[in-house]
Amino acid sequence: MTTATQPRQPELKTPLPGPKTQAIMERDAQHLSTSYMRPYPFVPDHGEGVWLTDVDGNTMLDFFAGIAVSTTGHAHPHVVKAVQEQVTKFSHVCLTDYPQEITTSLAERLVKHVEKPGEKWRVFFGNSGAEAVEAAIKLARNHTGRTHVISTLGSFHGRTYGAITLTGSKTKYKRGFGPLLPNVTHVPYPNPFRPPLGSTPETCGQAVIDHIESLFVGVIPADEVAAIIIEPMQGEGGYIVPPADFLPKLRALCDKYGIVLIFDEVQAGMGRSGKMFSFQHFDVQPDIITLAKGIASGLPISAMLAKESVMTWPVGSHGSTFGGNPVAAAAAHATLDLLEGEVGHPGCGKSLMDNAASVGAYIMDELRKMQAEFPFLGDVRGAGLFIGLEFVKPDGSPDGKLRDRASLAMFERGLLNLDCGEAVIRISPPLILTREEAETGLKIMREALASL
Ligand SMILES: Cc1ncc(COP(=O)(O)O)c(C=O)c1O
Repeated sequence: MTTATQPRQPELKTPLPGPKTQAIMERDAQHLSTSYMRPYPFVPDHGEGVWLTDVDGNTMLDFFAGIAVSTTGHAHPHVVKAVQEQVTKFSHVCLTDYPQEITTSLAERLVKHVEKPGEKWRVFFGNSGAEAVEAAIKLARNHTGRTHVISTLGSFHGRTYGAITLTGSKTKYKRGFGPLLPNVTHVPYPNPFRPPLGSTPETCGQAVIDHIESLFVGVIPADEVAAIIIEPMQGEGGYIVPPADFLPKLRALCDKYGIVLIFDEVQAGMGRSGKMFSFQHFDVQPDIITLAKGIASGLPISAMLAKESVMTWPVGSHGSTFGGNPVAAAAAHATLDLLEGEVGHPGCGKSLMDNAASVGAYIMDELRKMQAEFPFLGDVRGAGLFIGLEFVKPDGSPDGKLRDRASLAMFERGLLNLDCGEAVIRISPPLILTREEAETGLKIMREALASL
Protein backbone atom coordinates (compact mmCIF):
# COMPACT_ATOMS: atom_id res chain seq x y z
CA MET A 1 0.00 0.00 0.00
CA THR A 2 1.08 3.60 -0.63
CA THR A 3 2.27 5.49 2.42
CA ALA A 4 3.42 9.08 2.75
CA THR A 5 7.06 8.04 2.97
CA GLN A 6 7.13 4.92 0.81
CA PRO A 7 5.29 5.20 -2.52
CA ARG A 8 4.14 1.88 -3.94
CA GLN A 9 6.54 0.32 -6.42
CA PRO A 10 6.19 -2.53 -8.94
CA GLU A 11 6.90 -5.82 -7.23
CA LEU A 12 8.39 -8.59 -9.35
CA LYS A 13 8.32 -11.81 -7.35
CA THR A 14 9.28 -14.21 -10.17
CA PRO A 15 11.31 -13.83 -13.32
CA LEU A 16 8.95 -12.78 -16.13
CA PRO A 17 7.03 -14.77 -17.21
CA GLY A 18 6.33 -16.67 -13.99
CA PRO A 19 5.30 -20.35 -14.10
CA LYS A 20 1.52 -19.79 -13.89
CA THR A 21 1.69 -17.09 -16.56
CA GLN A 22 3.67 -19.41 -18.79
CA ALA A 23 1.19 -22.27 -18.35
CA ILE A 24 -1.82 -20.06 -19.22
CA MET A 25 -0.01 -18.58 -22.20
CA GLU A 26 0.65 -22.08 -23.52
CA ARG A 27 -3.06 -22.99 -23.22
CA ASP A 28 -4.01 -19.62 -24.72
CA ALA A 29 -1.76 -20.33 -27.72
CA GLN A 30 -3.52 -23.69 -28.20
CA HIS A 31 -7.13 -22.56 -28.07
CA LEU A 32 -7.59 -18.88 -28.83
CA SER A 33 -7.74 -17.10 -32.15
CA THR A 34 -4.50 -17.12 -34.12
CA SER A 35 -5.07 -13.40 -34.76
CA TYR A 36 -4.46 -12.33 -31.15
CA MET A 37 -1.16 -10.56 -30.45
CA ARG A 38 0.77 -11.24 -27.28
CA PRO A 39 3.36 -8.44 -27.04
CA TYR A 40 4.42 -9.34 -23.50
CA PRO A 41 3.96 -12.35 -21.24
CA PHE A 42 1.46 -10.90 -18.78
CA VAL A 43 -1.67 -12.63 -17.48
CA PRO A 44 -3.65 -10.41 -15.10
CA ASP A 45 -5.18 -11.82 -11.93
CA HIS A 46 -6.48 -8.68 -10.20
CA GLY A 47 -6.06 -4.94 -10.15
CA GLU A 48 -6.27 -2.04 -7.75
CA GLY A 49 -6.12 1.53 -9.02
CA VAL A 50 -3.16 1.90 -11.38
CA TRP A 51 -1.67 -1.44 -10.32
CA LEU A 52 -2.20 -4.82 -11.95
CA THR A 53 -1.05 -8.09 -10.41
CA ASP A 54 -0.45 -11.15 -12.56
CA VAL A 55 -1.30 -14.76 -11.73
CA ASP A 56 2.21 -15.24 -10.28
CA GLY A 57 1.85 -12.30 -7.88
CA ASN A 58 3.95 -9.83 -9.90
CA THR A 59 2.57 -6.31 -9.58
CA MET A 60 3.05 -3.87 -12.46
CA LEU A 61 2.32 -0.16 -12.83
CA ASP A 62 -0.27 0.24 -15.59
CA PHE A 63 0.72 2.93 -18.11
CA PHE A 64 -1.57 1.68 -20.90
CA ALA A 65 -4.97 1.08 -19.25
CA GLY A 66 -5.95 -1.75 -21.60
CA ILE A 67 -5.40 0.60 -24.58
CA ALA A 68 -6.79 3.79 -23.02
CA VAL A 69 -9.85 2.08 -21.56
CA SER A 70 -9.55 1.76 -17.78
CA THR A 71 -10.13 5.47 -17.13
CA THR A 72 -10.84 5.06 -13.43
CA GLY A 73 -8.19 2.39 -12.90
CA HIS A 74 -8.90 -1.17 -11.89
CA ALA A 75 -11.80 -2.17 -9.64
CA HIS A 76 -12.66 1.39 -8.65
CA PRO A 77 -15.05 1.04 -5.64
CA HIS A 78 -17.49 3.59 -7.07
CA VAL A 79 -17.70 1.71 -10.39
CA VAL A 80 -17.85 -1.72 -8.71
CA LYS A 81 -20.78 -0.57 -6.54
CA ALA A 82 -22.70 0.81 -9.52
CA VAL A 83 -22.24 -2.41 -11.50
CA GLN A 84 -23.21 -4.60 -8.54
CA GLU A 85 -26.36 -2.59 -7.91
CA GLN A 86 -27.50 -2.69 -11.54
CA VAL A 87 -26.77 -6.38 -12.08
CA THR A 88 -29.08 -7.26 -9.20
CA LYS A 89 -31.89 -5.28 -10.90
CA PHE A 90 -31.66 -6.45 -14.54
CA SER A 91 -28.82 -6.97 -17.00
CA HIS A 92 -30.65 -6.90 -20.30
CA VAL A 93 -33.93 -5.97 -21.90
CA CYS A 94 -32.82 -4.56 -25.32
CA LEU A 95 -32.61 -0.84 -25.75
CA THR A 96 -33.51 -1.09 -29.44
CA ASP A 97 -37.04 -2.02 -28.35
CA TYR A 98 -37.58 -0.65 -24.83
CA PRO A 99 -36.37 2.57 -23.20
CA GLN A 100 -34.45 2.30 -19.93
CA GLU A 101 -33.93 5.18 -17.52
CA ILE A 102 -30.25 4.36 -17.06
CA THR A 103 -29.49 4.82 -20.78
CA THR A 104 -31.84 7.81 -21.15
CA SER A 105 -30.02 9.63 -18.36
CA LEU A 106 -26.64 8.53 -19.75
CA ALA A 107 -27.52 10.05 -23.12
CA GLU A 108 -28.67 13.25 -21.39
CA ARG A 109 -25.36 13.41 -19.54
CA LEU A 110 -23.22 12.77 -22.62
CA VAL A 111 -24.88 15.37 -24.85
CA LYS A 112 -24.51 18.02 -22.13
CA HIS A 113 -20.77 17.89 -22.84
CA VAL A 114 -21.21 18.71 -26.51
CA GLU A 115 -24.41 20.72 -27.04
CA LYS A 116 -23.93 24.41 -27.83
CA PRO A 117 -26.75 26.95 -27.40
CA GLY A 118 -29.49 26.28 -29.97
CA GLU A 119 -28.19 22.77 -30.74
CA LYS A 120 -29.72 19.42 -29.88
CA TRP A 121 -27.88 16.11 -30.05
CA ARG A 122 -29.04 12.48 -29.89
CA VAL A 123 -27.26 9.25 -28.95
CA PHE A 124 -27.10 5.75 -30.43
CA PHE A 125 -25.54 3.16 -28.12
CA GLY A 126 -23.43 0.19 -29.28
CA ASN A 127 -20.89 -2.16 -27.74
CA SER A 128 -17.54 -1.29 -29.30
CA GLY A 129 -15.67 1.48 -31.03
CA ALA A 130 -16.07 -0.21 -34.40
CA GLU A 131 -19.83 -0.43 -33.90
CA ALA A 132 -19.99 3.30 -33.16
CA VAL A 133 -17.94 4.01 -36.30
CA GLU A 134 -20.19 1.76 -38.43
CA ALA A 135 -23.20 3.62 -37.08
CA ALA A 136 -21.57 6.96 -37.90
CA ILE A 137 -20.84 6.14 -41.54
CA LYS A 138 -24.24 4.49 -42.04
CA LEU A 139 -25.94 7.58 -40.63
CA ALA A 140 -23.83 9.97 -42.72
CA ARG A 141 -24.63 8.06 -45.92
CA ASN A 142 -28.30 7.73 -45.05
CA HIS A 143 -28.60 11.38 -44.11
CA THR A 144 -26.81 12.83 -47.14
CA GLY A 145 -27.80 10.25 -49.77
CA ARG A 146 -24.11 10.31 -50.78
CA THR A 147 -21.67 7.39 -50.78
CA HIS A 148 -18.08 8.61 -50.54
CA VAL A 149 -16.15 8.82 -47.25
CA ILE A 150 -12.77 10.47 -46.67
CA SER A 151 -10.49 9.18 -43.91
CA THR A 152 -6.85 9.73 -42.97
CA LEU A 153 -3.59 7.84 -43.32
CA GLY A 154 -2.40 6.48 -39.97
CA SER A 155 -5.94 6.34 -38.63
CA PHE A 156 -7.52 3.47 -36.75
CA HIS A 157 -11.28 3.09 -36.68
CA GLY A 158 -11.82 -0.59 -35.88
CA ARG A 159 -11.91 -4.03 -37.43
CA THR A 160 -15.39 -4.53 -38.90
CA TYR A 161 -15.68 -4.13 -42.67
CA GLY A 162 -16.61 -0.47 -42.76
CA ALA A 163 -14.18 0.41 -40.01
CA ILE A 164 -11.18 -1.41 -41.50
CA THR A 165 -11.85 0.24 -44.82
CA LEU A 166 -11.59 3.63 -43.09
CA THR A 167 -8.51 2.55 -41.12
CA GLY A 168 -5.24 3.78 -42.62
CA SER A 169 -2.62 2.64 -40.13
CA LYS A 170 -1.45 -0.86 -41.12
CA THR A 171 -2.05 -3.04 -44.18
CA LYS A 172 -2.18 -6.17 -42.02
CA TYR A 173 -5.74 -5.21 -41.05
CA LYS A 174 -6.78 -5.41 -44.70
CA ARG A 175 -4.55 -8.01 -46.36
CA GLY A 176 -6.60 -10.97 -47.56
CA PHE A 177 -9.91 -9.52 -46.33
CA GLY A 178 -11.14 -7.69 -49.43
CA PRO A 179 -13.27 -6.53 -51.05
CA LEU A 180 -13.72 -3.71 -48.60
CA LEU A 181 -16.19 -0.82 -48.70
CA PRO A 182 -16.16 1.08 -52.01
CA ASN A 183 -15.70 4.86 -52.27
CA VAL A 184 -13.29 5.45 -49.39
CA THR A 185 -10.28 7.75 -49.90
CA HIS A 186 -7.41 8.36 -47.46
CA VAL A 187 -5.66 11.71 -47.12
CA PRO A 188 -2.55 12.50 -45.03
CA TYR A 189 -2.97 13.41 -41.34
CA PRO A 190 -1.36 16.77 -40.48
CA ASN A 191 1.46 15.55 -38.27
CA PRO A 192 3.55 18.57 -37.21
CA PHE A 193 6.54 16.33 -36.34
CA ARG A 194 6.53 14.70 -39.80
CA PRO A 195 4.70 17.23 -41.98
CA PRO A 196 3.16 15.61 -45.08
CA LEU A 197 2.92 16.91 -48.67
CA GLY A 198 6.17 18.90 -48.48
CA SER A 199 4.71 21.20 -45.82
CA THR A 200 6.13 22.54 -42.53
CA PRO A 201 4.86 22.11 -38.95
CA GLU A 202 3.09 25.45 -39.35
CA THR A 203 1.58 24.82 -42.79
CA CYS A 204 0.73 21.08 -42.61
CA GLY A 205 -2.90 21.70 -41.67
CA GLN A 206 -3.52 23.98 -44.67
CA ALA A 207 -1.58 21.55 -46.92
CA VAL A 208 -4.02 18.72 -46.07
CA ILE A 209 -7.01 21.02 -46.67
CA ASP A 210 -5.55 22.03 -50.07
CA HIS A 211 -4.97 18.35 -50.87
CA ILE A 212 -8.63 17.50 -50.19
CA GLU A 213 -9.75 20.44 -52.32
CA SER A 214 -7.50 19.19 -55.14
CA LEU A 215 -9.18 15.76 -54.93
CA PHE A 216 -12.51 17.52 -55.38
CA VAL A 217 -11.24 19.05 -58.62
CA GLY A 218 -9.94 15.92 -60.30
CA VAL A 219 -10.82 12.74 -58.40
CA ILE A 220 -13.92 12.77 -56.17
CA PRO A 221 -17.03 14.88 -56.89
CA ALA A 222 -17.46 16.83 -53.63
CA ASP A 223 -21.22 16.51 -53.91
CA GLU A 224 -20.85 12.73 -53.63
CA VAL A 225 -18.91 12.90 -50.33
CA ALA A 226 -21.08 11.89 -47.37
CA ALA A 227 -18.51 12.32 -44.60
CA ILE A 228 -15.00 13.07 -43.50
CA ILE A 229 -14.01 10.97 -40.49
CA ILE A 230 -10.98 11.89 -38.42
CA GLU A 231 -9.48 11.36 -34.98
CA PRO A 232 -9.07 14.92 -33.60
CA MET A 233 -5.92 13.53 -31.96
CA GLN A 234 -4.63 10.46 -33.76
CA GLY A 235 -4.21 7.40 -31.50
CA GLU A 236 -2.97 4.16 -33.04
CA GLY A 237 -1.14 6.19 -35.72
CA GLY A 238 1.26 7.65 -33.14
CA TYR A 239 -0.52 9.87 -30.59
CA ILE A 240 -0.40 12.91 -32.85
CA VAL A 241 -1.89 16.34 -32.14
CA PRO A 242 -2.73 18.34 -35.29
CA PRO A 243 -1.90 22.07 -35.59
CA ALA A 244 -4.50 24.39 -34.03
CA ASP A 245 -5.81 25.75 -37.35
CA PHE A 246 -6.51 22.37 -38.95
CA LEU A 247 -9.81 21.14 -37.50
CA PRO A 248 -11.57 24.54 -37.81
CA LYS A 249 -10.45 24.65 -41.47
CA LEU A 250 -11.73 21.11 -41.99
CA ARG A 251 -15.06 22.22 -40.49
CA ALA A 252 -15.22 25.12 -42.94
CA LEU A 253 -14.46 22.78 -45.84
CA CYS A 254 -17.25 20.39 -44.77
CA ASP A 255 -19.69 23.31 -44.49
CA LYS A 256 -18.74 24.52 -47.96
CA TYR A 257 -19.59 21.15 -49.57
CA GLY A 258 -22.38 19.88 -47.28
CA ILE A 259 -20.19 17.08 -45.89
CA VAL A 260 -20.84 15.49 -42.48
CA LEU A 261 -17.84 15.88 -40.15
CA ILE A 262 -17.28 12.85 -37.90
CA PHE A 263 -14.83 13.02 -35.00
CA ASP A 264 -13.70 9.61 -33.80
CA GLU A 265 -13.04 10.18 -30.08
CA VAL A 266 -12.85 6.47 -29.25
CA GLN A 267 -9.24 6.68 -28.02
CA ALA A 268 -8.61 10.32 -27.10
CA GLY A 269 -12.06 11.07 -25.69
CA MET A 270 -13.65 10.69 -22.25
CA GLY A 271 -11.37 13.04 -20.35
CA ARG A 272 -8.09 11.48 -21.44
CA SER A 273 -6.78 14.66 -23.09
CA GLY A 274 -7.69 16.79 -20.05
CA LYS A 275 -11.01 17.82 -21.62
CA MET A 276 -14.04 15.57 -22.08
CA PHE A 277 -13.41 15.33 -25.84
CA SER A 278 -10.06 15.96 -27.50
CA PHE A 279 -11.63 18.21 -30.19
CA GLN A 280 -12.51 20.64 -27.38
CA HIS A 281 -8.87 21.76 -27.40
CA PHE A 282 -9.73 23.41 -30.72
CA ASP A 283 -12.43 25.90 -31.71
CA VAL A 284 -14.56 23.42 -33.65
CA GLN A 285 -17.80 21.48 -33.50
CA PRO A 286 -18.40 18.22 -35.45
CA ASP A 287 -21.70 16.74 -36.64
CA ILE A 288 -21.11 13.25 -35.27
CA ILE A 289 -18.90 11.93 -32.44
CA THR A 290 -17.94 8.31 -31.77
CA LEU A 291 -17.08 7.20 -28.24
CA ALA A 292 -16.07 3.86 -26.68
CA LYS A 293 -12.97 2.72 -24.74
CA GLY A 294 -12.84 5.06 -21.70
CA ILE A 295 -16.57 5.55 -21.40
CA ALA A 296 -17.33 2.84 -18.81
CA SER A 297 -14.06 1.86 -17.09
CA GLY A 298 -13.75 -1.36 -19.09
CA LEU A 299 -17.35 -2.47 -19.46
CA PRO A 300 -18.31 -2.74 -23.13
CA ILE A 301 -20.44 0.15 -24.32
CA SER A 302 -20.00 2.68 -27.10
CA ALA A 303 -21.90 5.71 -28.26
CA MET A 304 -22.46 7.56 -31.50
CA LEU A 305 -23.57 11.12 -30.80
CA ALA A 306 -25.12 13.10 -33.65
CA LYS A 307 -26.72 16.49 -34.09
CA GLU A 308 -30.49 16.07 -34.23
CA SER A 309 -30.46 17.72 -37.67
CA VAL A 310 -28.21 14.88 -38.90
CA MET A 311 -29.86 11.96 -37.10
CA THR A 312 -32.58 11.55 -39.68
CA TRP A 313 -32.51 7.76 -40.21
CA PRO A 314 -35.97 6.24 -39.91
CA VAL A 315 -37.42 4.10 -37.13
CA GLY A 316 -36.12 0.52 -37.22
CA SER A 317 -33.28 1.26 -39.67
CA HIS A 318 -30.51 0.66 -37.15
CA GLY A 319 -30.15 -0.99 -33.73
CA SER A 320 -28.12 -3.41 -31.62
CA THR A 321 -29.19 -6.28 -29.35
CA PHE A 322 -26.70 -5.58 -26.58
CA GLY A 323 -25.93 -1.92 -27.35
CA GLY A 324 -26.52 0.34 -24.35
CA ASN A 325 -26.46 -2.58 -21.93
CA PRO A 326 -27.71 -1.35 -18.53
CA VAL A 327 -24.82 -2.80 -16.51
CA ALA A 328 -22.30 -1.12 -18.79
CA ALA A 329 -24.43 2.04 -18.65
CA ALA A 330 -24.24 1.96 -14.84
CA ALA A 331 -20.45 1.75 -15.12
CA ALA A 332 -20.53 4.67 -17.56
CA HIS A 333 -22.52 6.80 -15.08
CA ALA A 334 -20.04 5.98 -12.32
CA THR A 335 -17.13 6.78 -14.67
CA LEU A 336 -18.71 10.14 -15.54
CA ASP A 337 -19.23 10.89 -11.83
CA LEU A 338 -15.45 10.60 -11.40
CA LEU A 339 -14.48 12.31 -14.66
CA GLU A 340 -16.72 15.29 -13.94
CA GLY A 341 -15.70 15.42 -10.27
CA GLU A 342 -19.19 14.78 -8.92
CA VAL A 343 -17.52 12.01 -6.94
CA GLY A 344 -13.95 12.68 -5.86
CA HIS A 345 -11.02 10.29 -6.06
CA PRO A 346 -8.41 10.42 -3.27
CA GLY A 347 -5.27 12.24 -4.39
CA CYS A 348 -6.81 13.56 -7.62
CA GLY A 349 -8.14 17.00 -6.73
CA LYS A 350 -11.37 18.16 -8.37
CA SER A 351 -12.08 15.80 -11.26
CA LEU A 352 -10.28 13.07 -13.17
CA MET A 353 -10.36 15.27 -16.26
CA ASP A 354 -8.45 17.99 -14.40
CA ASN A 355 -6.16 15.36 -12.95
CA ALA A 356 -5.37 14.07 -16.46
CA ALA A 357 -4.52 17.63 -17.52
CA SER A 358 -2.17 18.37 -14.62
CA VAL A 359 -0.46 14.97 -14.21
CA GLY A 360 -0.16 14.69 -18.00
CA ALA A 361 1.50 18.12 -18.22
CA TYR A 362 3.93 17.06 -15.50
CA ILE A 363 4.83 13.82 -17.35
CA MET A 364 5.35 15.68 -20.62
CA ASP A 365 7.60 18.27 -18.92
CA GLU A 366 9.71 15.52 -17.39
CA LEU A 367 9.94 13.57 -20.65
CA ARG A 368 11.00 16.74 -22.47
CA LYS A 369 13.80 17.16 -19.92
CA MET A 370 14.85 13.57 -20.68
CA GLN A 371 15.18 14.45 -24.38
CA ALA A 372 18.43 16.30 -23.54
CA GLU A 373 19.79 13.14 -21.90
CA PHE A 374 18.50 10.71 -24.56
CA PRO A 375 18.75 12.26 -28.05
CA PHE A 376 16.87 9.30 -29.55
CA LEU A 377 13.69 10.71 -27.97
CA GLY A 378 12.76 12.72 -31.06
CA ASP A 379 9.38 14.02 -29.97
CA VAL A 380 7.24 14.24 -26.86
CA ARG A 381 3.66 15.26 -27.66
CA GLY A 382 0.09 14.97 -26.57
CA ALA A 383 -2.48 16.45 -24.22
CA GLY A 384 -3.40 15.32 -20.74
CA LEU A 385 -2.72 11.61 -20.31
CA PHE A 386 -2.67 11.03 -24.07
CA ILE A 387 1.11 11.18 -24.60
CA GLY A 388 3.32 9.92 -27.41
CA LEU A 389 7.07 9.39 -27.18
CA GLU A 390 8.68 9.02 -30.61
CA PHE A 391 12.05 7.27 -31.03
CA VAL A 392 14.33 8.48 -33.83
CA LYS A 393 17.59 7.47 -35.48
CA PRO A 394 20.42 10.06 -35.59
CA ASP A 395 19.14 11.16 -39.03
CA GLY A 396 15.69 11.86 -37.53
CA SER A 397 13.92 8.92 -39.20
CA PRO A 398 11.67 6.72 -37.02
CA ASP A 399 13.51 4.04 -35.01
CA GLY A 400 10.95 1.29 -34.46
CA LYS A 401 13.57 -1.24 -33.33
CA LEU A 402 14.85 1.02 -30.57
CA ARG A 403 11.26 1.75 -29.52
CA ASP A 404 10.62 -2.01 -29.25
CA ARG A 405 13.72 -2.45 -27.06
CA ALA A 406 12.72 0.48 -24.87
CA SER A 407 9.19 -0.83 -24.48
CA LEU A 408 10.47 -4.28 -23.45
CA ALA A 409 12.99 -2.75 -21.02
CA MET A 410 10.13 -0.84 -19.37
CA PHE A 411 7.97 -3.96 -19.14
CA GLU A 412 10.83 -5.94 -17.58
CA ARG A 413 11.07 -3.26 -14.89
CA GLY A 414 7.38 -3.47 -14.06
CA LEU A 415 5.82 -0.81 -16.32
CA LEU A 416 2.99 -1.99 -18.58
CA ASN A 417 3.16 0.04 -21.79
CA LEU A 418 2.15 -0.20 -25.43
CA ASP A 419 3.56 0.92 -28.75
CA CYS A 420 1.77 2.75 -31.54
CA GLY A 421 2.68 4.30 -34.88
CA GLU A 422 6.01 3.39 -36.45
CA ALA A 423 8.26 4.22 -33.50
CA VAL A 424 6.14 5.56 -30.65
CA ILE A 425 5.40 4.46 -27.10
CA ARG A 426 1.95 5.63 -26.01
CA ILE A 427 1.49 6.70 -22.43
CA SER A 428 -2.19 6.24 -21.65
CA PRO A 429 -2.52 5.36 -17.96
CA PRO A 430 -5.72 5.40 -15.93
CA LEU A 431 -6.77 9.01 -15.28
CA ILE A 432 -6.53 8.44 -11.51
CA LEU A 433 -2.72 8.43 -11.81
CA THR A 434 -1.32 10.62 -9.04
CA ARG A 435 1.79 12.73 -9.41
CA GLU A 436 3.62 10.35 -7.09
CA GLU A 437 2.67 7.35 -9.25
CA ALA A 438 3.69 9.32 -12.33
CA GLU A 439 7.11 9.89 -10.72
CA THR A 440 7.45 6.15 -10.15
CA GLY A 441 6.62 5.48 -13.81
CA LEU A 442 9.03 8.15 -15.04
CA LYS A 443 11.82 6.71 -12.89
CA ILE A 444 11.28 3.29 -14.49
CA MET A 445 11.23 4.86 -17.94
CA ARG A 446 14.52 6.67 -17.29
CA GLU A 447 16.19 3.48 -16.04
CA ALA A 448 14.90 1.57 -19.06
CA LEU A 449 16.10 4.27 -21.50
CA ALA A 450 19.51 4.40 -19.82
CA SER A 451 19.83 0.63 -20.26
CA LEU A 452 19.51 0.75 -24.07
C1 LIG B 1 -9.88 5.92 -32.64
C2 LIG B 1 -10.43 4.53 -32.60
N1 LIG B 1 -11.59 4.27 -33.21
C3 LIG B 1 -12.16 3.05 -33.18
C4 LIG B 1 -11.54 2.00 -32.53
C5 LIG B 1 -12.17 0.65 -32.52
O1 LIG B 1 -12.61 0.33 -31.26
P1 LIG B 1 -12.97 -1.18 -30.88
O2 LIG B 1 -11.70 -1.95 -30.82
O3 LIG B 1 -13.68 -1.06 -29.55
O4 LIG B 1 -13.88 -1.68 -31.95
C6 LIG B 1 -10.32 2.23 -31.88
C7 LIG B 1 -9.63 1.14 -31.17
O5 LIG B 1 -8.47 1.19 -30.87
C8 LIG B 1 -9.75 3.53 -31.91
O6 LIG B 1 -8.58 3.80 -31.31
